[in-house]
This record gives sequence, C-alpha cells and structure tokens, in this order.
Amino acid sequence: MMSPRSFVAGAFVALALSLSAAEVQLTLRADAPGPVINRNLYGHFAEHLGRCIYEGIWVGPDSPIPNTRGYRNRVLAALKQLNVPVLRWPGGCFADEYHWKDGIGPREKRPSMYNSHWGGVVENNHFGTHEFLDFCELIGAEPYVCLNVGSGTVQEAMEWVEYITSPASSPMANLRRAHGREQPWRVKYFGIGNESWGCGGNMTPEFYADNYRRYNTFVKNYQKDHRLFRIACGSNGQDYNWTEVLMQKAAKQMNGLSLHWYTLPTGNWKKKGSATEFTEAEWFSTLRNTLKMDELITKHAAIMDKYDPDKKVGLVIDEWGTWYDVEPGTNPGFLYQQNTLRDAVVAALNFHLFHRHADRVAMANIAQTINVLQAVILTDKEKMVLTPTYHVFEMFKVHQGATSLGVDLTSPDYVFEKEKLPAVSASASRDAAGKVHLSLVNTDPKNAHTVTCTLAGLAAKSVNGRILTAAAMNAHNTFAAPAAVQPAAFTGATLADGKLTVALPAKSVVVLEL
Ligand code: AHR
Repeated sequence: MMSPRSFVAGAFVALALSLSAAEVQLTLRADAPGPVINRNLYGHFAEHLGRCIYEGIWVGPDSPIPNTRGYRNRVLAALKQLNVPVLRWPGGCFADEYHWKDGIGPREKRPSMYNSHWGGVVENNHFGTHEFLDFCELIGAEPYVCLNVGSGTVQEAMEWVEYITSPASSPMANLRRAHGREQPWRVKYFGIGNESWGCGGNMTPEFYADNYRRYNTFVKNYQKDHRLFRIACGSNGQDYNWTEVLMQKAAKQMNGLSLHWYTLPTGNWKKKGSATEFTEAEWFSTLRNTLKMDELITKHAAIMDKYDPDKKVGLVIDEWGTWYDVEPGTNPGFLYQQNTLRDAVVAALNFHLFHRHADRVAMANIAQTINVLQAVILTDKEKMVLTPTYHVFEMFKVHQGATSLGVDLTSPDYVFEKEKLPAVSASASRDAAGKVHLSLVNTDPKNAHTVTCTLAGLAAKSVNGRILTAAAMNAHNTFAAPAAVQPAAFTGATLADGKLTVALPAKSVVVLEL
C-alpha cells in the first residue's frame, strides 16, 4: 500500500508531468490555410567579397578543380540540390562601386578594379554579367541584379538593363550579341542601389527616394510579356523613418522594399563574438537577437500597410544572417566565418518568421552563399563542406511555394539566467501534392520537449521526418570532418488516435512529413 508520503510525492510528479505535457500543445490547422510561402524566401546573396565569387563559385575554366565553364562542379551540384529560387548579385556594398561594362567581353581584356570595401583586393572582373547569368541558368535560380546608384549614373543603370533584357536592335542589345548572347535574358528582379543610407551613398531617405524615382524611370520593361520587379533600398534594421519616407514618396513606383538585419551574438560591431567558441550565454543572446526579426517585420509591415493596404509592395529581406568575428588568421575584409548548429537554429527560426509574415515578405536572401558570413558552403582549395545552415535550407525546401497552415502553439520558455525566449517554434505547410510538412525547432540546448499535436482537418496516416542536431552547441563541419552535423532519420514522432506526438530533443531542428 502506498504511504501518505509517497502518495504526495507521486502526486507531485504526476502534476509536474501533466503540467509539462500540457505546456507543449500544438494544433496544426490544416483546416486554416494561410498565404502561399513564396519560394523566394529561400533566396541567396553572392557578393564580390572575399572568397564568395572567386574560389567559391568561380574557379576559372583552366582550374584543376573540376568545373563547368569555370564554375566549381561541386558547388553547382550542391546548390541545385537546394532549389535556390533567386540569387542576388553583385553586392552589397560592392554593387555601388561596380561598373558593369568592365565585366563583359573577352576576360583577358577586362580591366581590373580595386575592391575598396572588401579587403582592398584587386578584382579582375572575370566574373561579370554573362558569368553570373550563366551561373543562374546552371543552378536554376532567378537572377536578382543590384544596380549601382551610389557611384554610377542613370545612363549606366539604364544601359545595363537594356543590355540584359532588350530583344531590340539597339546599341546595348547589339553589344550583348557581339559578346555572344543573341537572346535577351529574362531577368526580373532589379535592385536600385544597396544600403543607400550607408556604403551606397550615405543618403537621407528623402534624397534617396527622389533618386529612386529618377533611376526607376529609366529601368524599363523591354519585353512585352515580361515585367520587371523593382526593389528599392530599404531600411537598416530599426530605421522605421526610412520606410515611412520611402513608402510615402515612392510606393507606387516600386514592387519591393528591402530590409537588412544581421544577427550578432553580442550586438556589438567591434566585438561580435566567435562563430565556434561560445558559451550558453552567447547561444542564448544570438537566438534572442535573431528573433528581433519578428518585431522588425511587424513594424515595417505596419508602416507599409498604411500606404499599401493591398500589400502590393513586397518586403524583401535581401540580407540576413549571422555576423561573427572572422575566423582567426583570415583577412578581416573577407568576412569568413565557421557555421555551427547555432546557425542552423538561427536559419530555421528565421524561416518560421518569414512564413508567418508570408503575406508581406516576398523574398529573403541569406548573406552569403559561399565562404562569407552565414554561408551554406565553405571551400578550401579543392575541398568543399556543407554547413549546418545548408542542411536547414535543404530540409526546409519542402516549404517552398507551399500553402502555409495555421499553427497554434503554446511554447514553454527556454530560460537562461533572468531572460527567456520560446523553447519551441513551429511552422507548417501543404505542398501541391497535398503533403503536409511540419517543421519544429527546440532552442533549448539542455532540455528536450514533448510536443503533443492535434491535427485539425487532417487525417494523417503516416509520419516520417529528419532531424538536425548534435551533442554540442558549437558542433560544426570541417574539411577534415565534413559530416559532423548532418540530417538523420527522425524516429521520435508517432501517430496515435489522430494525434501526433513528437519527442523533440534539445537544440534540434526537425522536419516531419505527414
Ligand atoms: O553582406 C556584407 C555586407 O553587409 C554587404 O555588402 C552590405 O550590404 C552589408 O552591410
């Protein structure tokens, strides 16, 4: 017989268990479809910065590294695997110093330039318009070209658009033909300046808005059935006044307005924090800082709603990701950093936020694809490694173009010292074939959580999935150990009586298919 004492202890345990079970309740609202998750939320950004373009993407046709017309074969294969929807180029800050005519014609005749922003290196212009657009065709991505407003001219921008897109017999279209490309490309996305409040010209929003309108007038549609999507330079993080002025003065002239937001562990640009050497304090602060994206989108979107209630102008988050101190011993101007399980969690949390705001967010481009900031691929001479962030892009590609589904979640807290953030984040979608995908993140590095999921409007017959996790918060892939962090089959999800139960391990990202 149970003693009164053990009965009380048992009751406490039962209560504690029931409370913790009750805390992680999720209802997947398959009966409440939301907006379509634009594929472009899974976009990329590749700048002439450090070893992103040169060495990363472009090794040159004469390289001993296996390549196709100069593009590293393993990079081509890895990016094709991600279904990269859109790729932004040539910058970044570089875009406002780039003169496109230096990057066409026979490579050996192209003039060199000084890359003043990024390491002061000499840029030989071997990767130019044709190389970029050819690369996009090879990986199946839509190109997004950022025009030079800061140090360029209206004529230069206008001619570049004509060179790329005009089918006519006109000076720029004929110049393109002379360089071997008969048909125009169907490039849709054009950015008009980059960070015009900073490296792109240090402009006030009023001055930029006027310039935007002027440049935009000459960014023309040259093909009858092909309308360009013009993206105005947007705010630096929390500069809401920039959004207000741009929307007030130029909303009718734009299709997209950008937003840049980087996640720094410390929030201090002088000492950002290491990519791999960090404690739980920096794990926590990194995740807390990245979740500010929610507030930023909400507040910028509210301003956009005032001027554009029909949501015709998309918010284009064309630079986002983690920014750490560079890897010791590397060129500080090259922004080379490692990538750990923490970056994977950052990526997954941001994707969930983008999905949640899919009615306004039209595109997002991680900074940057290879060897720079939160890269999906790292290279060292002939070697290549896929980062944990790559694996999240690959696992989450099932959400691309799918219809978002409602997710009602009461998350327990992940508490660190005196602060807290939600331990569990979730997002769901239904793809064109009717398959439902549920992605889950556990931000808590120490505690597993059991998620009990009610499936509203969904009679699921089976569940399977994959998990990305590791023993250590800073686990990462190296050239010596390239598979330290990679997705594995997930066996912690079960279906019974129409309910889904998921045993979500600490510090993990899971994607389930129902
Ligand atoms: O992505 C690196 C740099 O960050 C970009 O060139 C610039 O736009 C931003 O400040």
